[in-house]
Amino acid sequence: MAAEKIVYLNGAYLPIEQATVSVLDRGFLFGDGIYEVIPVFGINPLRVDEHLQRLHNSLSRISLDNPLTNAAWKQVFAELLAKNPGNDRAIYLQITRGPHQVRDLKIQLEKCPTIFMMVLQVGAVNISELEKGIETVTIDDFRWHACDIKSISLVANVMLREQATQSGVVDAVLVRDGYVTEGTASNFFMVKNGVLITPPTSRHLLPGITRDLVIELAQENGIECEIRPIAESELAAADEIWLTSSTREIAPVIRLNCRDVADAKAGPVWKKMINIYQQYKQVLRQAQ
Ligand code: PDD
Repeated sequence: MAAEKIVYLNGAYLPIEQATVSVLDRGFLFGDGIYEVIPVFGINPLRVDEHLQRLHNSLSRISLDNPLTNAAWKQVFAELLAKNPGNDRAIYLQITRGPHQVRDLKIQLEKCPTIFMMVLQVGAVNISELEKGIETVTIDDFRWHACDIKSISLVANVMLREQATQSGVVDAVLVRDGYVTEGTASNFFMVKNGVLITPPTSRHLLPGITRDLVIELAQENGIECEIRPIAESELAAADEIWLTSSTREIAPVIRLNCRDVADAKAGPVWKKMINIYQQYKQVLRQAQ
């Protein structure tokens, strides 16, 4: 029998079937909330301080107080992970402004955020599958000017992903005003003449934790890295393209807009980086 799934809701640990929220919750009515996805290897969340900092930034951008201290968050993570044993997992954490009695956009004085957390059993990434690469298309990024917030209002991302699906590919490279922003749920990297390039953070993309880690690992391992805007017109001549995220890790894009990216194979810089990334995870898995 599958182990019972225990989730965290407003201070309580409950079987998932018993965890319910009000239909008046502003997360439900307005998408008024933020979230985080934190990968876990062994018992150790990856870059937990950076995830908590981004959580804090998202909360402050939407004028919501952080309900717990970092130490308290870490304690809850440890307890929830202990109640949902496994190897490679991820913590999904969502905070909404909670239920208000009147359906009104105005933020009420009463503070009753809804805090929800569950553990996703993600399984180890299969490198030979990942190496096969993915196909993408470019799509106009029509989202708002607040993409740095990890908002639960994801309908635009859902629409963009659906546009990619309708084009017969797995994801999109989003382009705003002629410049690449990110994927529908990932950050964008390009390799040109051995140099790894990614767009700077701004209100038009999420500051990915995987993105920062990839930049850091590249710099530590002698891969030249440039952070600068990438014009859509540069894509056709890219040697490699990657999409990065907590769940996808580092996915090589081998076809874009029905054309091969270089020779349509995961490239040498990706191979070097994915090995470095796997080693980084392995150290985390083994740490007590
Ligand atoms: N998404 N950009 C967007 C729009 C994202 O939704 C994500 C992650 C990223 C990458 O961020 P990170 O490296 O911190 O995972 C970039 C998560 C995984 C999700 O929505 O499930």
